[in-house]
Amino acid sequence: MSISNEVLLQAVKDFGTPLYIYDGDMVVQRYKELYDFIPWPKLKIHYAMKSNYNFELLKLLNDANASLDTVSPAEIMLALKAGFSKDRIIYTANNMTEEEVDCVQSLGVLMNLGSLSRLEKYGKKYPRSKICLRFNPDVVDGEHASLMTGGDLTKFGILLQDVDKVKEIIKKYDLTVVGIHEHTGSGLQKTESVFQSMKNVLKIATKDNFPDLEFVDFGGGFKVPYKPDEERVDYAAMGAEIVKIFSDFCKEYGKELAMYFEPGKYIVAESGYMLVEVNTIKDNNGRKIVGCNSGFPQLIRPMFYDAYHHIVNLSNQNGIEGEFDICGNICETGDRFAEARVINEIREGDILSIENAGAYCYSMGSVYNLRAMPAEAVYHNGEMKLVRRRLTNEQLIEQILGEVEV
Ligand SMILES: Cc1ncc(COP(=O)(O)O)c(C=O)c1O
Repeated sequence: MSISNEVLLQAVKDFGTPLYIYDGDMVVQRYKELYDFIPWPKLKIHYAMKSNYNFELLKLLNDANASLDTVSPAEIMLALKAGFSKDRIIYTANNMTEEEVDCVQSLGVLMNLGSLSRLEKYGKKYPRSKICLRFNPDVVDGEHASLMTGGDLTKFGILLQDVDKVKEIIKKYDLTVVGIHEHTGSGLQKTESVFQSMKNVLKIATKDNFPDLEFVDFGGGFKVPYKPDEERVDYAAMGAEIVKIFSDFCKEYGKELAMYFEPGKYIVAESGYMLVEVNTIKDNNGRKIVGCNSGFPQLIRPMFYDAYHHIVNLSNQNGIEGEFDICGNICETGDRFAEARVINEIREGDILSIENAGAYCYSMGSVYNLRAMPAEAVYHNGEMKLVRRRLTNEQLIEQILGEVEV
């Protein structure tokens, strides 16, 4: 399932470039299929909205009854506007401020606390509350060093060995721990890491330590293929093993608990395309350098994580293949979407489609060099709809002046 090249090209004609397009049907399908892959009666999928906070996609996921993983008060506020009820949202920010904690508390959203320091401060201010605790699973995995959130070198979660200190604070402030959480990393390379993280965290999630548990949340991180020849993980097999591990745990715990996951990438990555137009071609002593009308602030993963994004030349699909560096329009040498990429011949005026641009692309965007973020369109039920316009230069400047006045 994907959007045809003809439909993408028509959207370019209708809305111009640079343009993000998301396949809304695929987003809902990816969300729903996780329930088939992980057949646990009390499974709840909390979409990690940091990966893509497009309002139209949020509304589609809300219609599908999804839950959410959020990381800032503004994310919660946007989620509430999209229709999500507060009981379907978890708050897993790190290094929170007092102001932020108060805001989330007043919104009635369950807090997931990941440090002893924050737990102490929270307990003092909000004794007798229900909370979730984030532990560091002590497993290192992820698509890139910056995407590994387990192990000694990360800032995330409470160390498993500190469970007794946690218990002291909980007792002191009469807190009720309803959930235990871990997140190992994004784009987990080995399914074994998922199982190992589960086992590590479940070892401390005992009835003795935490008698009031309602759920255990095993985070996100499910990888998707970015390269055309990359194999898709067998999620049905992985889900069967997950259910076995959790079922054994629940028997020991003496209660059928809910199991949560928080995928972002899995749900939205493959649904997205960023469409750009080529405006300049240079031949630097045989090196073909392509310049287009977007740059790394609008899709940062290749520059930030060395991430591969497949690129298709939509307007010359039968052109002879050649090797091209595909660059942006930003004043930085590293402003590149692809290096030495073999692709159908690229000419000035061609439209390139940067694929798998649904997760951590628009949402990580900025207006560096003062170029407005692209417009966004959603394809759903056979219809393409522009859901967010690109700011004009005048609007961008108005926004900046507005910020100065504040
Ligand atoms: C706590 C937490 N949960 C879930 C996710 C989602 O990860 P992914 O998009 O790889 O599924 C992240 C992302 O890093 C995260 O930090």
